[in-house]
Amino acid sequence: MTNQKILFSGIQPTGEIHLGNYLGALKNWVDLQNKYSCYYSIVDLHAITIDYEPKNYQEKILDTAMDLLAIGLNPKKSVLFVQSRVPEHTELCWLFNTLIPIAELERMTQFKDKSQEHKKNINAGLFDYPVLQAADILLYHGQVVPVGEDQLQHLELANKIVRKFNNKFGEYFKEVEPVISSGARIMSLADPAKKMSKSLGPAHYISINDTPDVIKKKVMKAVTDTGEAKEMSPGVKNLLRLLELLTDSKTFQKYQKVYDNKSIRYSDLKTELADAIIKHLKPIQEKKKELMKDKNKVQKILDTGAKKARRVAQKNIVEIKKRMGLM
Ligand code: TRP
Repeated sequence: MTNQKILFSGIQPTGEIHLGNYLGALKNWVDLQNKYSCYYSIVDLHAITIDYEPKNYQEKILDTAMDLLAIGLNPKKSVLFVQSRVPEHTELCWLFNTLIPIAELERMTQFKDKSQEHKKNINAGLFDYPVLQAADILLYHGQVVPVGEDQLQHLELANKIVRKFNNKFGEYFKEVEPVISSGARIMSLADPAKKMSKSLGPAHYISINDTPDVIKKKVMKAVTDTGEAKEMSPGVKNLLRLLELLTDSKTFQKYQKVYDNKSIRYSDLKTELADAIIKHLKPIQEKKKELMKDKNKVQKILDTGAKKARRVAQKNIVEIKKRMGLM
């Protein structure tokens, strides 16, 4: 199909993908492939703004690529590529740096949070992170950007850059539209007041690569409630939400009902949920295993993706530089 809108999104190669990432965003990436012309990037240049291990970084990037392919990204439909393989991203980032006041970057809550978390490594790249993100999207004239809620402020910044550029150099970029997935905000199993995240530790999340045994153990240990609260506890809410996202509506309604009439047994709910997770992840894990056997093929997919992306990027950067008087 021609004239489809361009979609761009990125994921950091920081390790295992968990159910929160998957249900909150990545599952949506798969569905959106049929609606837009999609660019999905493994943003290795973003991820080096916090401490990382260079020795196994290539492995992590490849592993992220395999996870994305396993969940259903289709390289025939979408362009899947590694950010640093298309140097025009950093080039455009520099050009945009000259348009954005540092006061705007100082307001970014993610920068403030990460600076708190990594006090010994508050580098200029971390500060500039949102400008590189804007460059990622606009290099391809991306308009549709599926992200988690925590990225909305970055997309607003991207739109400030769009307006500034258009004002200075003539109407050229279109504003970007965030797409927030309806499955968003899966909470930690062990501490359901917090968002599911790897940094909390293994008991808090389920990786898409966890074995059935591990999944069962983690779900059975999940925090629920003591049976006294009047309102549904965050832990129970989270388990029911997961069940709703991963099974048929009949099963989900059954548990909602027994909760409502107070006859619920959490061990039943947990067993049902663990089985649903295991069943849902099975084909993904089988696909991943297959990909692991042929890493050269995965590398080739990434090579092809980078070539496709670069062709577009090179064409667009020339146009941008012309408008800025650089060519
Ligand atoms: N900052 C995003 C995140 O951590 C990742 C990202 C980088 C991204 N570039 C992007 C997301 C461009 C959307 C569009 O989730």
